[in-house]
Amino acid sequence: MVVGSRLLSLGALATTALSEYTISLTEQDSLIIRDGDEILVNNLVLLAGKQNTTVQPLKNVTQGLSYNFITPTVAEVKLTTSSPFHGAIFTANQDAHFYGVWEYPFNNQIANKNVSFDLKGVGSNTGLNWANARAPFFLTSTGYGVYTDTLKMGSYDFTVPGKAQFIFNTTSLVYYIILPTTKNDFKSVIEQYTELSARSEMPPTSGLGPTFWSDDFEQDFHGSVSNAQENIQDVVDHLYYNQIRATSTFADRPYGTGNRSWGNFDFDPDFYPDPERFIKNLTEWGFDFQVWIANRATANKDTSLNTKLWNASTENGWLFPLTDEPLGALGPALNLTIPDAYDYFQENLEYFPRVGAKGYKIDRGEENEMPDYLQNEQMALFLQLAYDSMVQKWGASNFYNFARSAVDRSRAVTHIWNGDSHANFTGLAYSVASGIRSGLIAFPIWGSDTGGYTREGGALSPTEEVWARWMWFSAFSPVYELMLGTNHTPWYPPYTNQTLNVLKTTANLHADLVPYIKSYAYAASQTGLPIIRALFLEAPTDPNTWEVNDAYFFGEELLVAPIVNEGGKRSVYFPKGRSKKYINFFKRREVHTAGTTVNVSLDVDSMPVYITQGAIIPRGDIYQGNAKWIEDWQSFLTIEVFPSWDVPESTFTYFTGDGAKGKPAKIKMTTNKEKGTVRVEYENLAVEAAVLIWAWEGSREVNLNRGGGFTEVGIGDTLF
Ligand SMILES: *[C@@H]1O[C@H](CO)[C@@H](O)[C@H](O)[C@H]1NC(C)=O
Ligand SMILES: *[C@@H]1O[C@H](CO)[C@@H](O)[C@H](O)[C@H]1NC(C)=O
Ligand SMILES: *[C@@H]1O[C@H](CO)[C@@H](O)[C@H](O)[C@H]1NC(C)=O
Ligand SMILES: *[C@@H]1O[C@H](CO)[C@@H](O)[C@H](O)[C@H]1NC(C)=O
Ligand SMILES: *[C@@H]1O[C@H](CO)[C@@H](O)[C@H](O)[C@H]1NC(C)=O
Ligand SMILES: *[C@@H]1O[C@H](CO)[C@@H](O)[C@H](O)[C@H]1NC(C)=O
Ligand SMILES: *[C@@H]1O[C@H](CO)[C@@H](O)[C@H](O)[C@H]1NC(C)=O
Ligand SMILES: *[C@@H]1O[C@H](CO)[C@@H](O)[C@H](O)[C@H]1NC(C)=O
Ligand SMILES: *[C@@H]1O[C@H](CO)[C@@H](O)[C@H](O)[C@H]1NC(C)=O
Ligand SMILES: *[C@@H]1O[C@H](CO)[C@@H](O)[C@H](O)[C@H]1NC(C)=O
Ligand SMILES: *[C@@H]1O[C@H](CO)[C@@H](O)[C@H](O)[C@H]1NC(C)=O
Repeated sequence: MVVGSRLLSLGALATTALSEYTISLTEQDSLIIRDGDEILVNNLVLLAGKQNTTVQPLKNVTQGLSYNFITPTVAEVKLTTSSPFHGAIFTANQDAHFYGVWEYPFNNQIANKNVSFDLKGVGSNTGLNWANARAPFFLTSTGYGVYTDTLKMGSYDFTVPGKAQFIFNTTSLVYYIILPTTKNDFKSVIEQYTELSARSEMPPTSGLGPTFWSDDFEQDFHGSVSNAQENIQDVVDHLYYNQIRATSTFADRPYGTGNRSWGNFDFDPDFYPDPERFIKNLTEWGFDFQVWIANRATANKDTSLNTKLWNASTENGWLFPLTDEPLGALGPALNLTIPDAYDYFQENLEYFPRVGAKGYKIDRGEENEMPDYLQNEQMALFLQLAYDSMVQKWGASNFYNFARSAVDRSRAVTHIWNGDSHANFTGLAYSVASGIRSGLIAFPIWGSDTGGYTREGGALSPTEEVWARWMWFSAFSPVYELMLGTNHTPWYPPYTNQTLNVLKTTANLHADLVPYIKSYAYAASQTGLPIIRALFLEAPTDPNTWEVNDAYFFGEELLVAPIVNEGGKRSVYFPKGRSKKYINFFKRREVHTAGTTVNVSLDVDSMPVYITQGAIIPRGDIYQGNAKWIEDWQSFLTIEVFPSWDVPESTFTYFTGDGAKGKPAKIKMTTNKEKGTVRVEYENLAVEAAVLIWAWEGSREVNLNRGGGFTEVGIGDTLF
């Protein structure tokens, strides 16, 4: 990114700033940001030292420190001395909350209370193993964010109330203190942060799911199935006959030859006799196909069986020399800083797009296969080369890569799944919290293994109840992906029709919400704003929202409160944000007032979801995917609107296309209480569409013009 253009666009963002912020160094060597007389940011101490454990406050800094506002709301601090480690301490009031840095929800919390950890993969932990997305960025409830612009290893410490500390392994540290463009606008902090680091690429619609996969397609055969290829077709066929919507599938390992099926950049002919024809057939049936990859090279006891990747790496000295045995005896990673190693890997990966694969599931990166202090730099390189190998074949936004271990700059080249969740309610609860946290570090396109990955024993793992609740959560996640396979395939015993029915309802609901979800994915690519939003992002002045780890806004219009405990009961708090009332998504005469709490009790056939007043929600069948059972399929968009006299005007930007192809189309709704009218204006939606106007008495449908226009109706009914 060119510095000039960065300044320019950030400046454009900040034009609405009402304040005149100033930064200064105090006599006590603290950096202070003031708005008039009020101290907004106290960067109490700058740190430097020989080791991360011995850093000391810098005193009387005359050289090596610079600080200034590069836009009205972003201060840049640069610190360079001869010390190898640098850091900073920020202080705030004792009860301030600090968010961000890690996707993993330590202690099932969305804030970082009492957390101290490195900026690296989190490993196996309660609820989730390897929920590893991370960013050198924290956001505080006091109203600002701090972004440290580096791929070097560092650590963050939030163990002292009211204090945030970071230390990085670098002689030269650059960080940005980011203030909101208007008071309490945390979203503007995230926008400015992602402008400085990276924003996610618009995914293809097929990437948003529903996606069905397995890591044991080479076993668990049913009926006439005799190999992995036919096993995937068996999944395709069951989805078809049950009329369950899907858009993609992928082969987790094992699928190739070589020790543990990886290293020859191929498909094992025993599993996949004809990969190219197989993938082509999948495409015809409406599925994109991805394959598993990792930056690891594995040896064999019988050296004649060593893989291409191992041979090339050892002959050229590309492997990291390791002191610890990597997890799973799966061999060391290649040092991708070596240009030849990087090029070799990319060139060999190109086999997969050549035979039709449209993306990768990118595994590992934090299992001792490389020195920890290089995790951020090395994973950034691997994710980049994986992206490059795909983009040259398909073009930007036409394939779907997703990883579990990614640092923030990589969000431009990969999406995220939250690692190996546990297949029980703990795993579900932690997955919901990690989804919220993923949003707070601005990784917008995110999903979890529906039902969990790590089996917990017992006849049913997950239980039917856990799986159903998780399916509902995935319906309201950016990505709906579900692992099936040995003893956990919804249409095979021991599971019953209850699970199959919930799968069908939720997968089809997710598909129906795709117009809404992809519009937010587009917004994320333009603004950096996440789709899963912590409640405080939409209700920043409601103190009851700071710690909520089990409810979120899905975009601006939907409040989602997944049930993450056994028994189907939970309480739902309605935040005091823009909306004064919330309408039950499934029972549209049930309305709740902001600031109240309700206890709900629901069977597995529903979940608590609520709509804000004035909401505009585009939904409907705009991407066919596998729905070949529908004869003469045609796309149709339904724009549901929920007008309220409390909301004179609301807007929604609908994204008209798939991936990079498409345009933003603005939809605007205005209400006029005196005239008793609701007016909906819309730009070219590029699809047959109708608007469904909801009032207390029910809904009214009006067809819309193809090229854009408006419709105005008189409403005799009571509005929400
Ligand atoms: C120092 O670095 C080591 C190695 O990365 C890490 O384990 C430790 O947490 C760091 N300590 C501090 C205080 O940052
Ligand atoms: C910092 O500078 C001041 C004034 O120049 C001096 O009095 C003080 O001793 C210095 N402190 C340190 C720690 O060097
Ligand atoms: C903070 O975490 C440490 C170590 O994880 C634990 O021993 C301590 O009890 C925690 N303190 C609080 C106040 O939660
Ligand atoms: C193509 O895929 C469909 C759906 O899975 C399957 O029924 C059919 O047998 C496949 N055709 C070939 C030639 O593999
Ligand atoms: C696979 O590779 C690992 C690590 O290089 C090695 O320890 C193991 O023995 C190999 N397995 C076989 C079956 O060769
Ligand atoms: C790797 O090298 C060994 C000899 O060290 C050879 O036997 C084997 O065929 C090579 N593997 C590949 C895939 O080329
Ligand atoms: C990785 O490769 C680079 C470039 O050759 C080299 O400078 C660096 O020392 C290597 N790192 C390790 C840990 O071997
Ligand atoms: C800091 O980085 C250097 C390489 O620049 C590495 O050798 C060292 O182990 C790292 N220290 C820590 C604590 O990670
Ligand atoms: C989920 O499984 C883990 C063990 O993997 C266990 O510690 C935890 O208590 C379980 N949670 C529930 C709600 O059963
Ligand atoms: C599920 O329902 C179908 C018909 O809707 C029925 O044929 C099938 O036997 C049922 N399966 C189970 C496991 O109950
Ligand atoms: C919800 O349930 C809790 C616990 O049973 C109870 O204390 C609370 O009063 C209930 N709240 C409402 C609004 O009914």
